[in-house]
Amino acid sequence: MRRIWAIADLHLSFGVPDKTMELFGPEWKDHPAKIAEHWKELIQPDDLVLLAGDLSWGMKVDDAMPDIDWVEALPGQKIITRGNHDYWWPSMGKLKKILPPSIQAIDASSLVIDEIQIAATRLWDTHEFSFAAWTIFRPNPKARTEQATPAEDYLAQQEKIFTRELQRLELALSSLPPKGSSLRIAMTHYPPVGPGLAPSRASAILEAHQVDLCIFGHLHSLNKPKVQFGPARGVTYILTSCDYLDFRPLLIR
Ligand SMILES: [Fe+2]
Repeated sequence: MRRIWAIADLHLSFGVPDKTMELFGPEWKDHPAKIAEHWKELIQPDDLVLLAGDLSWGMKVDDAMPDIDWVEALPGQKIITRGNHDYWWPSMGKLKKILPPSIQAIDASSLVIDEIQIAATRLWDTHEFSFAAWTIFRPNPKARTEQATPAEDYLAQQEKIFTRELQRLELALSSLPPKGSSLRIAMTHYPPVGPGLAPSRASAILEAHQVDLCIFGHLHSLNKPKVQFGPARGVTYILTSCDYLDFRPLLIR
């Protein structure tokens, strides 16, 4: 059986070296070297590797290409989806032309490899839950201004983006063939459930589509002993942001 691994939020910056992650804590020092070392030790060429967003700090495709080439050089068949920092992400048509052979992208879409079904979308922040209390706060020394209390129109705009992402999740899952005995995986960049795995609008969609595993990232500097993910109402939720995994790809099957 083909093995499946996951690691999200690589936040690579080979094309824009001044955007280092070291601002966010000592654990990020030379983090690509740590990821590559573990990746080469663990992953075989036939394995699948799911990368749930925030691959590159590049703002344009040309800036992101060194990061894409870095991923290409590592073993395994990689499936990527878009994170909130992937500004370089072009149209799906262009992506298909620029991605090297071992990398495939899905975004509001899906693909099937053997008996493995994978559907993906980015999601977004939702007013339903927050992980703020579960995160070790690390101010960004390069941040320009203090965050003001969000204005009402800002919140309305966030809700609009989130609602559209729910539709994209529905679209991605609906594009899959009947489940049968397949393993059905959803990949979202943002967490679809809050602390304690309480039901949410996104989790309801995942449950309705009989998703077995939901792989996500986006959350960094989590206070680990306090945060628990895992099975809830038929779906197993797995946080795969690379600092949460100590920069070691996680075997999910
Ligand atoms: Fe993110």
